[in-house]
Amino acid sequence: MQQIDQYLSDNSARFETELLEFLRIPSVSADSAFKGDVRRAAEFVRSQFRSIDFAVVLVETAGHPIVYAESPFVLGAPTVLVYGHYDVQPPDPLGEWKTPPFEPAIRDGYVFARGATDDKGQVFTHIKSAEAWVKTVGSVPVNLKYVIEGEEEVGSNNLEIFLNASRSKLKSDVAVISDTSQFGPGRPAITHGLRGIVACEVTLRGPKQDLHSGIFGGSIANPANALARIVASLHDVNGKIQIPGFYDDIPPLTPEERSRLVDLRFDEAAYLREIEVSAPFGEPGYTTLERRWVRPTCDVNGITGGYQGEGPKTIVPAWARAKITCRLVPNQSPEKIVKSIEQHLRANCPPGVKLEFREWHGCPGYAFDTNNRYMHAATRAIADSFGVEPVFIREGGTIPVVESFRRILGLDTLLLGWGQNTDNLHGPNEHFLLADFHRGTKASAHLWQELTRS
Ligand code: BES
Ligand code: ZN
Repeated sequence: MQQIDQYLSDNSARFETELLEFLRIPSVSADSAFKGDVRRAAEFVRSQFRSIDFAVVLVETAGHPIVYAESPFVLGAPTVLVYGHYDVQPPDPLGEWKTPPFEPAIRDGYVFARGATDDKGQVFTHIKSAEAWVKTVGSVPVNLKYVIEGEEEVGSNNLEIFLNASRSKLKSDVAVISDTSQFGPGRPAITHGLRGIVACEVTLRGPKQDLHSGIFGGSIANPANALARIVASLHDVNGKIQIPGFYDDIPPLTPEERSRLVDLRFDEAAYLREIEVSAPFGEPGYTTLERRWVRPTCDVNGITGGYQGEGPKTIVPAWARAKITCRLVPNQSPEKIVKSIEQHLRANCPPGVKLEFREWHGCPGYAFDTNNRYMHAATRAIADSFGVEPVFIREGGTIPVVESFRRILGLDTLLLGWGQNTDNLHGPNEHFLLADFHRGTKASAHLWQELTRS
């Protein structure tokens, strides 16, 4: 491994330059104005694989292309399916960025750009680690198959079709994804559970157009008032979700699970300080870590309707809309939950208002076993590179493909996050510590070796 470690340190500056090039491409999957840029990001990833002689194709989908690459076949070696995404979230709010989101800047050892940690910087580590093997030893010691998609941030709806159609081609022993976080600075982690999600949108329509609120107000339901009431009905005052049946399928937390979380010595005060919130809030009877990782949520992500400009305006608005997502835990069915949300919203809608319900995407939560050879191999690789053994954590975020890998390919995933939850992913000034980028690359290079040992 010495030769490989040497290659990684000799080439670290060039790796950073190439990462910046990747980050300069505004591959915003949610916004069709960026369609060409999203494709350019896919082409950039393809060129990376071409430069190390991996077989690589762009797989066209109904949406953005998937980059699929394979290392030269090694007989008798395990096969690893590496997943990542080259798409990014919209950069808004633009005015809050210290430097523009697609003009990566390095400050205090961090690279600042949209996608720095989620997920360009992280997925890049698994490409550069393969390069190190190819350019020193001549080939990687395992069979690597890469699926790098461009629609993760919009729910991965087209990826399933590819996975179903490519089951035999994708046959592997284990999957690897770096799209999560460490538990904290200097506390690398392996994530063994993620929450699922359902995303939906509700629009309330009242009068045919905005009306004078003095002439009409009080005689008809106001869609914005009605929406506020509906949103309020989602939780009780303590934060417990009120959608009938919402918690029904969730098994109670076991004492072992609960004590495992306690053992992590989570610093709640530091957590709140970081996000500048004065007090925790959530479902009674659970700790903050439990609320974040192993209990479900229901959140309004955006709410709009009526006059938003400066000064007062006296109208009854014609419509109001809310975007809602629920994070799900294992055993909750997204299909069932989305039906109960719709039913609950309709049951709370006053007469004279039309309710339109739209479902965006959904996937279940899941958790897996931590005591197997793959987890042990990853533990050794991380210890080699970060100088400390990883802790086992769960996360509250969602990576839809992980459940698809389990269901369609029968694969468990090693979720090896190199980032931090404080990297501002999805927000302004997203960043990634370059030292962790390099440590992650080294851990990845070591992982390929460790996976050949049983
Ligand atoms: N990288 C995140 C998921 C993540 C972040 C997991 C931090 C754990 C810790 C991923 O790119 C993401 O944001 N996913 C979306 C999925 C959704 C759009 C289906 C999410 O969780 O909101
Ligand atoms: Zn991501």
